[in-house]
Parts: sequence; C-alpha cells; structure tokens
Amino acid sequence: MNIVEISQQRYTTKHYDKTKKIPADKIEQLLTVLRNSPSSVNSQPWHFFVIDNETAKNKILPAIAEFNHPRVADSSHTIVFCVKTSLDDAHLVNLLNQEDKDGRLPSVDLKKAQDEGRRYFVKLNSSTPEAQLCWESKQAYIALGQLLFAAAAIGVDSTAVEGYDSAKMDEILGLKQKGLKSIVVATLGYRAENDGNAHRPKSRLPKEQIFTFL
Ligand SMILES: Cc1cc2nc3c(=O)[nH]c(=O)nc-3n(C[C@H](O)[C@H](O)[C@H](O)COP(=O)(O)O)c2cc1C
Repeated sequence: MNIVEISQQRYTTKHYDKTKKIPADKIEQLLTVLRNSPSSVNSQPWHFFVIDNETAKNKILPAIAEFNHPRVADSSHTIVFCVKTSLDDAHLVNLLNQEDKDGRLPSVDLKKAQDEGRRYFVKLNSSTPEAQLCWESKQAYIALGQLLFAAAAIGVDSTAVEGYDSAKMDEILGLKQKGLKSIVVATLGYRAENDGNAHRPKSRLPKEQIFTFL
C-alpha cells in the first residue's frame, strides 16, 4: 500500500472482533512508532498505558462514554495517552542524559546549548499550567496520528477516542499521584464483520476548500 492507500483504508472502527488479538510483534512495532513520535524540543512529555486484558479493560470502562464501550471492550489493545502535569527539572535532566547516552551530544557545549534551548521553549509554553498542558497535549496528539496511520499500514484497525471522562480515567489509574493526566485514548484490533463503518465511504471536504497554494 502506498501512503494514499493507507490513508484511505484507515477508518474509525466502531465494532471490533473480540476474538482477534494483535500479535505481539505488531504491538511491539506500534509501541516503537509511539516511542519514535516527534515532539517539540524532544520533550517527550508523555506516558502511555497499554491495556491488553479483560481485567484492565473492565477497570477503565467506567471512564469510557457509554457509546464508546464496544470500542474498548472488544478491542485487542487500548492505549491511554497521558502527559506529565509538570515538565520538571528531573524530566529535563532525564531527557538530556538520554540524548547524551544516545550519542546526540558529542561536546559539552552542545549539551549545554541543547539543555538551554529546551528549557527556553518549555518556559515559553508554560506561562500557566493550562498553557503547558495544551502544549503537551499537542505533542500527544501527534503521537496519536502516527499510531493511527502506522496501525493501518500494518493491517491493524483503530479508533481514536475522545469520548471519555478524563477526570474519572485519571482517578481510576491514579494518575495525579503519578504526575500524569490522561489526554486521549486509542483502541486497536480487528474490525468485526458487522462493522457498518467499514463499508461507508470516506467523507472529506474538497481540496479547494482546505488548501491554499501561495
Ligand atoms: C481526536 C479524535 C477523537 C475521536 N473520538 C472518537 C470517539 O470518541 N468515538 C468514536 O467512535 N470516534 C471518534 N473519533 C473518530 C472520528 O469521528 C473520525 O475520525 C471522523 O469522523 C473521520 O472518519 P474516519 O476516521 O473513519 O476517516 C475521533 C477522532 C479523532 C481524531
């Protein structure tokens, strides 16, 4: 499949075949895509909860809007995207040390510049806790987009799920104590035979309405 075909094949799965499980190697690939997702100043402000069993699914279901229950309950895997409530010094040092370990900062000057640059942009985007959360959420949504596209590329169906109660999810997963906040959910699996949405045509506004070539 070329990228246009992948983008056309990907669709929002409403009903999954509960009997079908995504093989471990494909899940590993998708988690790697999440890990490799880009983020502003490589801030990687996220944490992902991966749910692949009945107990964990039942645990989070009370936070999922009723109409979305089938997407979670019958999915093979559900991922809760979270971001950090504080991009604190410990996180910034952790990032810098990782970049150093990964060989991206061969000189002391480069390491210092990278640290200063990142701190500058973190500060710029953290005028209020809300502003920081908004900035972090944008990074998490980039990861969501990458996941949905990558899943389609390897024949895995998916659903982005905003229809959930984030305060309830945070409470169920004890996120506040972990310094995290849930942002969005994605479910993964294989479409059920009766998934009507699989056969509905895609609907998008025409090119002329969304692109301006200057
Ligand atoms: C951020 C985001 C949140 C969404 N939340 C839900 C949801 O809670 N439940 C659902 O069934 N679909 C949800 N959708 C699916 C959209 O309705 C869908 O992407 C849109 O109608 C376009 O259809 P397509 O994905 O099949 O091309 C969401 C999509 C995005 C990108």
